[in-house]
Amino acid sequence: MTTGRGLLIDRFGRVHRNLRVSVTDRCNIRCFYCMPAENVPFRPKAELLTYEEITRVVRVAASLGVRRVRLTGGEPLVRRDLPTLVAMLRNVDGLEEVSVTTNGILLADMAGPLRRAGVDRLNVSLDALDAEAFRLITRRGGYERVIEGIDAAIAAGFTGLKVNAVAIKGVTETQAAAFGRFARERDVEVRFIEFMPLDADGSWDRSQVLEAAEIRRLIEAELPPLVPAGRRDAFGPAEVFEFADGVGRIGFIASVSEPFCAGCDRFRLTADGQIRNCLFASNEFDVRGVIRSGECGDRIDTEVAAVLREAVAAKKAGHGIGDSGFAPPERAMYAIGG
Ligand code: 5AD
Ligand code: SF4
Repeated sequence: MTTGRGLLIDRFGRVHRNLRVSVTDRCNIRCFYCMPAENVPFRPKAELLTYEEITRVVRVAASLGVRRVRLTGGEPLVRRDLPTLVAMLRNVDGLEEVSVTTNGILLADMAGPLRRAGVDRLNVSLDALDAEAFRLITRRGGYERVIEGIDAAIAAGFTGLKVNAVAIKGVTETQAAAFGRFARERDVEVRFIEFMPLDADGSWDRSQVLEAAEIRRLIEAELPPLVPAGRRDAFGPAEVFEFADGVGRIGFIASVSEPFCAGCDRFRLTADGQIRNCLFASNEFDVRGVIRSGECGDRIDTEVAAVLREAVAAKKAGHGIGDSGFAPPERAMYAIGG
């Protein structure tokens, strides 16, 4: 039983139920909006939380009301034996859902094992539907493998699969209608996420964000009209549409132009054991140090709980993109966890 007193509630009354756990900062591609092109300064392995340590933090978080965990990276499937972690998390009391966000490169082989280990939902990040555009964005190959991965996930029994595409001006326009067709052919939800200032090169500019209305127009120019499907998840950030004939769904996550911070119930654990209360947070709260302090077990759990509370209590009202004093976070997306 969780009492109200034990919940992770911030100064604005937001109850935190949703923890995103990065299991590695490594990745097998190099999306320009997330990573530097070369010489990425990855963390040494000793700094990464072990699966036991991650499970410990999640267990404490669940005792404070967290119900959903999403595994991210970097690319989570490059970490060895990810299904083992999934199975460990599935045993945590109070946790209702374990999901994974992957770039799909390794998914063809991993979809079955992840499903059997207990992953409830899968999101695949894919920004282009042709190999050439894929290579421009990711600076690597592998487009066909991602498509094979998506099809393997569907075959493995993942329903409600979501495909996330970052919406970038000058890039996504050529892909929009193809994504509409893709959503219809496989009956999946394609969600366009506005490009956010989380790139490693610091070259983000507001003018590079492609907004929902334009994407919608490009899709509807070639396919049936899109009608509002209502928000399946009242607190979810996506505004979802379905095609008028009921086949295929398209979502828009307007993180920049219409921030959903007011309803945000998430916080993050980085691969190196830091709690971040927001993607755009400027400070972090160290749980790795607490876990490795050498103190006795119960004492550690009490201190981890205190760090989680402190992190949530310090959360700001919103990300502040567009405010005059806004500065992007010091870590780029791959080092935070998507
Ligand atoms: N802006 C928007 N979305 C991003 N992602 C990574 N970097 C950015 C960015 N700068 C997305 C990934 C993935 C999700 C976890 O976050 O493509 O879909
Ligand atoms: Fe890798 Fe995801 Fe970053 Fe692309 S967005 S480089 S797939 S971690």
